[in-house]
Amino acid sequence: MKYFIKTYGCQMNHSDSERIAGVLELANYKKSVEEIDADLVVINMCSVREAAVNRISGNFHKYKKYKISNSNFKTVITGCILPTDKNKFDKLFDLVIDIKEIEQLPERLKNCHSKKDCHSEFSSESSFDNDLTVPMSPEPVIDEMKKYKGQSQKILNQVQDDKNYCYSECSDSEMKSHDTMPKKSKSFVKTQDNDINDYFSINPQYESKITAYVPIMTGCNNFCSYCVVPYTRGREKSRPVDEILDEITNLVKNGYKEIILLGQNVNSYKPDGNTDFPKLLRLINNVPGDFWIRFLTSHPKDISEELIKTVAQCKKCTEHIHLALQSGDDEILEKMNRKYSAKHFLALTKMIRKNILNVSITTDIIIGFPGETEKQFQNTSKIMKEVKFDMVYINKYSPRTGTVSAKMNDDVSWKEKKRREDVLNTILEKTALENNQEYIGKTIDVLIEKKDKSYAYGKTRSFKNVKISYSCYPDLVEGISKRKKTVKVGKFSKIKITQANAWGLEGKVKK
Ligand code: SAH
Ligand code: SF4
Ligand code: F3S
Repeated sequence: MKYFIKTYGCQMNHSDSERIAGVLELANYKKSVEEIDADLVVINMCSVREAAVNRISGNFHKYKKYKISNSNFKTVITGCILPTDKNKFDKLFDLVIDIKEIEQLPERLKNCHSKKDCHSEFSSESSFDNDLTVPMSPEPVIDEMKKYKGQSQKILNQVQDDKNYCYSECSDSEMKSHDTMPKKSKSFVKTQDNDINDYFSINPQYESKITAYVPIMTGCNNFCSYCVVPYTRGREKSRPVDEILDEITNLVKNGYKEIILLGQNVNSYKPDGNTDFPKLLRLINNVPGDFWIRFLTSHPKDISEELIKTVAQCKKCTEHIHLALQSGDDEILEKMNRKYSAKHFLALTKMIRKNILNVSITTDIIIGFPGETEKQFQNTSKIMKEVKFDMVYINKYSPRTGTVSAKMNDDVSWKEKKRREDVLNTILEKTALENNQEYIGKTIDVLIEKKDKSYAYGKTRSFKNVKISYSCYPDLVEGISKRKKTVKVGKFSKIKITQANAWGLEGKVKK
């Protein structure tokens, strides 16, 4: 039996797909290069934007054709699925399975003779018939958010009574931070601790032989008002330290050079009473071997001075911090339930630059959040100019059913969102170019990721792309064997940077 996995969304989903592949390979499934040759297609879903959901439903006719030519052909969907979309997918796919239960996939497929037999345990009850989420207009939203804050203790009391609600044991203070907590629901966090532990201990089938994603936690407790992640992935659950260290030790022994730690908010990593994220970083830094450590993502409300100093002190931690700003306007940040101000964000970036030499700072920004005025947008432009980001992932706001902001009026037109996106892109192009020009003439370590006949390609510690020109070296003209010796895929090389543009660097091997 051959399988094909199609992955949507962020690095977390890509990492999960490696675990899905691990489970299937263990059950003797073989990877298919082409979707059309597979007996099993697994869609690993992202729900962060409406478009992906529509695309999947729209493309499904293709699988109906595959079923006609191959009677064994089956379709599975997993990943970040909103309970409201789950009903839609139930009708289309042979199996809808929670990612935390993915270890059971081969067994569930065996028993999956008809669509009716193999549906997951998801409840069809919607999680979002929530009379306790923020009531919306006609009153101003910000006032509504304040009014809602008063209700949060009532919600918390209900939530804490329901053990099924929170699959990680959230502390009181964590729970109190859920100002926009929806009404309790048994459907979207049905998974038990055992399932999560099973999921963490799956042996992944890594995509790359150089870089490995290592999940350190799953879920999110933050409930940013626009975001589906707490609904699709449930509450935060941290992975045990020894499991993480074992996985990394093995990876490094097998030649991996870049370890990317994953979590929606790595700063709240808390597997036990005495380990936190900075401590985890120090432990990983002590794993013997020559490798780099990266992590994604940090939340500005939680990133600490201790973490910044740890990154600065640990040799294997790379000089790159991804810190999602989302907006540079305090009122919008409050409506987003982000719990920090633009001033705080700015102070953090100053602290990062002061402590971590040659650091690159990247961010996510949402433009056109409900009610975002021109002046509020200008505040985002202003902070972007001030911070001088190396990269900004700019997202046009898209309302997602069930989130708090979906009840707000999405009143910034698509055309205006596009215009604001162009303005921010122009600022980014300028600051990224200025930052990259600082590298010209310097010789730096680059991890070589691939090469073709004329160029090698790699990354700097600060997460910059580098294109390395072979033809620059007289000693390489002699022959291919010598070229291979000089720049080897999967190894670090000293590269002298010769050129820079906004999106990357160019260089040559130091003689
Ligand atoms: N945990 C990460 C974000 C994960 S979601 C963090 O807090 O940094 C990745 C990004 O998708 C977010 O940072 C946000 O910029 C974007 N995003 C999430 N929901 C969105 C929505 N409804 N519309 C547009 N962009 C959205
Ligand atoms: Fe979404 Fe906010 Fe959690 Fe990030 S921190 S996953 S944006 S709810
Ligand atoms: Fe999407 Fe889930 Fe990541 S919703 S952005 S794949 S955590």
